Amino acid sequence: MRAHIVTYGCQMNEYDTHLVQSQLVSFGADIVDSVDVADFVLLNTCAIRGKPVEKVRSLLGDLRKIKARRPLVIGMMGCLAQLEEGQQMARKFGVDILLGPGSLLDIGKALESNERFWGLAFRDELHDHVPPAPAGQLQAHLTIMRGCDHHCTYCIVPTTRGPQVSRHPDDILRELDLQLAAGVQEVTLLGQNVNAYGVDQGARLGGYPTFANLLRLVGRSGVRRVKFTTSHPMNFTEDVAAAMADTPAICEYVHLPVQSGSNRVLRRMAREYTREQYLAHVADIKKHLPHVVLATDIIVGFPGETEDDFAQTLSLYDEVGYDSAYMFAYSARPGTPSYKHFDDLPREVKTERLERLIARQKDWSARKNAAKVGTTQEVLIRGEAHSDGFLEGHTRGNHPTIVPAAIGATGPGVYPVRIDHATPHMMYGTVLGPDGHPLPQVPRLDPQAAALSAPLSMA
Ligand code: 5AD
Ligand code: SF4
Repeated sequence: MRAHIVTYGCQMNEYDTHLVQSQLVSFGADIVDSVDVADFVLLNTCAIRGKPVEKVRSLLGDLRKIKARRPLVIGMMGCLAQLEEGQQMARKFGVDILLGPGSLLDIGKALESNERFWGLAFRDELHDHVPPAPAGQLQAHLTIMRGCDHHCTYCIVPTTRGPQVSRHPDDILRELDLQLAAGVQEVTLLGQNVNAYGVDQGARLGGYPTFANLLRLVGRSGVRRVKFTTSHPMNFTEDVAAAMADTPAICEYVHLPVQSGSNRVLRRMAREYTREQYLAHVADIKKHLPHVVLATDIIVGFPGETEDDFAQTLSLYDEVGYDSAYMFAYSARPGTPSYKHFDDLPREVKTERLERLIARQKDWSARKNAAKVGTTQEVLIRGEAHSDGFLEGHTRGNHPTIVPAAIGATGPGVYPVRIDHATPHMMYGTVLGPDGHPLPQVPRLDPQAAALSAPLSMA
């Protein structure tokens, strides 16, 4: 079997793709990188906003046409598969296999079945399953929990991924060991709300560490860098910031989605915290980690958001000083409370506010990144950049970074890099040797082409 997987959505979905892909490989499948040569195409779908849903609809339309011409098995997994909206689509476009986020391990059964296979259960075995480490990569994801116990009124995830279930720490550490043995240097712990890790199990079974203690366990395993995403502010306790400060491997990067700066909107979103409580968390984090890099998620144009509410989002934004942000216009999702109870704002209002927020964020990113010029950052180089002779990677604070290849730094690895130049979205630097001086650059064959692609000209 030649299988091709297309992945939409978040890092959880990327992880799930890796998990299913490793299952397919264990059944003897070849993973191919184009639909044209595949006899099984699997779409790992996202349902968080209207756009990814529409992308899946149009791809399913294309696949149905291909299937009319030649044998093709079409599969659909991920968040959209769990929803009636996705199942309707699956029926319409002739999907053969449908697996919700809790049923991924049914992939074998599904492929053996001669009939249409629908898997929608949330199975506990998923949490014990340890997929093999990704081959030849310095970075890996590691799921520590699935699902979410919050009920933000705009969000479809509690419906698609079910209630929160934390994974047993032994399974997490076993997977981490495999990753370390495979050469992984940076691991990102994943969950819808990692800060609440263990809360669902602690009282009942005991023996689960708190998230702060899990961070310490992972941080002391020998892995070089640890990141985590994402955190609900309500569950962000000061001991997490303290664990970050006392465990050097934990990167000083915190993604703390705020969604809105207006208490009225936060209440309507059922976020369970106020602007003031959120700012108190940020103050705790900054106290323990003075050089923390802060990122957030913001939704603009939530139903009923007034110009004054939006002004409060902008002012909170300035008060915190985020290094980066994922910014979204509210997208009404069938099945969520806000879809049912509130009227959507006009699209122009949402777009206009989103543009203003993006402009504000760009100013902050420019300012924050400029402050890093002249500093030395630890950069994980993933490999070659688009322009010849350059390598790309990212810092402990997740800043995308480009460096010229240097003698002693021609490929993947973790290197100290002096930042020479920064734009709002990119840092440019020079790899330093053990003596703190720049390593000599790899001579380029065509100096003219190299000059054209020099970092400053890309700014
Ligand atoms: N519309 C727009 N953005 C949304 N998000 C979640 N649901 C919606 C929605 N209905 C955003 C939130 C969340 C991020 C993953 O996606 O900001 O943190
Ligand atoms: Fe990830 Fe949420 Fe999209 Fe599901 S709906 S793939 S959890 S972003």
